[in-house]
Amino acid sequence: MPPSSGLSFTQDFAHFQKHVTQLFQKEGWTVETPQSNQAYDLIVTKENQMGAVQVKWLKSSVQKPQLSKFADFLETNAGKKFNCGFFITTQGYGGSARALIRSWGEDTKILCGIAAKNEIIWLNDGDQDFPPPEPPKPDKIYFGVFTCKGGVGKTTVAAHLAGAFALQGFNVALVDLDPERNLHKLIGDGIYLPKPKSVGESIEVYDERAWDEDAARDCKVVICDCSPVFERNPKELIEKFDYCLIPTTFNPLGINKHGKIIRDTVNDIRRINNRAHLFVVVNNFKHPTSRQMELLKKVYFETYEEIRATDDKFHCIDPDEVCIRASDQLYYWGIHVLENPDNPRSELAFKLIGGRCYPRDDFIDLADYIEREAGLGILRAS
Ligand SMILES: Nc1ncnc2c1ncn2[C@@H]1O[C@H](COP(=O)(O)OP(=O)(O)OP(=O)(O)O)[C@@H](O)[C@H]1O
Ligand SMILES: [Mg+2]
Repeated sequence: MPPSSGLSFTQDFAHFQKHVTQLFQKEGWTVETPQSNQAYDLIVTKENQMGAVQVKWLKSSVQKPQLSKFADFLETNAGKKFNCGFFITTQGYGGSARALIRSWGEDTKILCGIAAKNEIIWLNDGDQDFPPPEPPKPDKIYFGVFTCKGGVGKTTVAAHLAGAFALQGFNVALVDLDPERNLHKLIGDGIYLPKPKSVGESIEVYDERAWDEDAARDCKVVICDCSPVFERNPKELIEKFDYCLIPTTFNPLGINKHGKIIRDTVNDIRRINNRAHLFVVVNNFKHPTSRQMELLKKVYFETYEEIRATDDKFHCIDPDEVCIRASDQLYYWGIHVLENPDNPRSELAFKLIGGRCYPRDDFIDLADYIEREAGLGILRAS
């Protein structure tokens, strides 16, 4: 689809590759797509020049290893047949990648660029200065967990996503915006995950009144368990959300009922925040037969077709890729409080049973998915 379709040329790899092809053609290059190749995506020829083009569709900056890999390929026998290499990306180049490009000097056969709407902006063609360094990374990433309907799993998802980020090395603040204060009931003021030889990670719980960015200075991730009544969630927080998770249930009634509510919720969020990536995620997933799965997936994707076509930051997660499975551990999460009401422990449903823990695996997969799809790499950059 050409960029004129109204959808952004950076919306996915296929559109971006097509856009890059057109930009090369505009400059008089003949462009071919190689059969199947890991190392480059296009072959461009003009007069006696033949170049390999790596098209890198990313939601964050290019990092040095990605560039080094391409440079190494050009040194192999297969790469030597090209007398130039082009590395073209969507967003920009991180500090270490820029340093590598600088170290190649002016005689390099690799040109690195960013494909803009009408031209490729080259970084190292000698005529241009390097673009200014990227703006400083935000020091907190905000998540909102919404359903605008009770009982779908907001609190469960908010707390365990916090657990997944904590397991990956981030301190997390959980903000309880639900007047029911379920998070407080289940994990009190929070959880500390100690580490054997260094300082561990913490999940700190705040209610709306106690929440202040300064109170959670060392938390890089903030996850808000939102009130099911949309208007009750403070606008200042919704404005800050970088990512929203919207759990749903994967059965005919669930898809139908939540479909309408979720579409309204997306509109409500968009009135306040146009920037956030929104993810619909299936919770409480029970394995259907393959025929049922096929039917349910069809209806599920159709339910959000219109939003998907107009909102490139709306992601409807395929449950075959990532979902939160129904599990006894999640169903009975909270029993730890009942077991010892006078001195309740704080814990998540992340215990290994027989060496496995579905909730833990599923939430780590979910955190990875968001990172891949929405460029959460920024969390790790500083
Ligand atoms: N994946 C799952 N497997 C099994 N039980 C689950 C799962 N997810 C949620 N539950 C159960 O479903 C119930 C509702 O979950 P939860 O309280 O997280 O929903 P909620 O959207 O926060 O509800 P509310 O709007 O009332 O705050 C709980 O009893 C919880 O234990
Ligand atoms: Mg809740």
